[in-house]
Amino acid sequence: MKKFPAIVCFAALLTGILCGCSADIDATAETQEKEISNLIVVGFSQVGAESEWRVANSESMKSALSEANGYELIFDDARNEQGNQIRAIRTFIQQDVDYIVFSPRVETGWTSILQEARDAGIPVIVIDRDIIVEDRSLYTAYIGSDFRKEGETAVTWLENLLKKQGRSEDTIHIVHIQGTIGSSAQLGRSAALDAAIVQNPNWEIVTQEQGDFTRAKAYEVMQGILQTTKDIDVVYCENDGEALGAIDAMQEAGLTCNADDGVIVISFDATKLGLTYCLEGKIALNVECNPLQGPYVADIIQRLQQGETVEQEKYIDETWFDSYTITKDMIEGRGY
Ligand code: AHR
Repeated sequence: MKKFPAIVCFAALLTGILCGCSADIDATAETQEKEISNLIVVGFSQVGAESEWRVANSESMKSALSEANGYELIFDDARNEQGNQIRAIRTFIQQDVDYIVFSPRVETGWTSILQEARDAGIPVIVIDRDIIVEDRSLYTAYIGSDFRKEGETAVTWLENLLKKQGRSEDTIHIVHIQGTIGSSAQLGRSAALDAAIVQNPNWEIVTQEQGDFTRAKAYEVMQGILQTTKDIDVVYCENDGEALGAIDAMQEAGLTCNADDGVIVISFDATKLGLTYCLEGKIALNVECNPLQGPYVADIIQRLQQGETVEQEKYIDETWFDSYTITKDMIEGRGY
């Protein structure tokens, strides 16, 4: 809002000179200037494009913070590097944007850059994954998912299923494919499984590997695991991409993925593709992680613009789907 890109000033000036109709052009340039300067300038550092979920999250931000809605969005894809995110945020500060929004790759390492944003008087909104800073007043608001709760939903569902199947006392061999290490999505979902292992001494982790939230990495990792063992009851994947990659590898190795008579695959996100796998029975449980955060961010900004105080931490409501109850209609009605 306080900004007016130099290139636009120059373009308006040049148009005026070339046309030689200065009065009309002056008026047009003034209108343009008014319109453009009324835009709220938001710098958004997106962590990357590692998953379908992430793509939906970027789209949600772009459509909520569009020019038609009164925003100029400066979008930066950090290609999964925290260093790139820090550089992008520093550039936003130099550009003197009105708001900085970022989706942090990992929880830690943000204090200095947030201090720089605060010194420049720019409010920061954290989305999706949470951060840990000693001074929580370094950011204005956080909107995202309760990843620990997502994990707890998953392990409770598994406990109930095994009970129903009469396998509560059996040894359950679990492969755990983790997301980006140090991200709150990984930490929360992993912590819930770790706690459930303590509660259920018959649950055994066969192996715990990094899948980086990508289908390709999970496929590669699962192929490696299957060379050592095929005695697997459950594969706990920390997002849909990983679940799809792991399923590809298991099917190629001749394993069936199914809650009743095969490997029980647990996933997070509930993207349309992930839910299609759930409908086919290949993913037994898919816990929702809602990427449609753009409207929430727009709402926070509008309230800050009105001088209102906003809730500092807000978790989005999320649900879950399993292969027993999911229907085609449930998938079709979804926004991502
Ligand atoms: O932080 C949200 C997680 O990151 C989603 O589960 C995953 O798909 C994404 O890449």
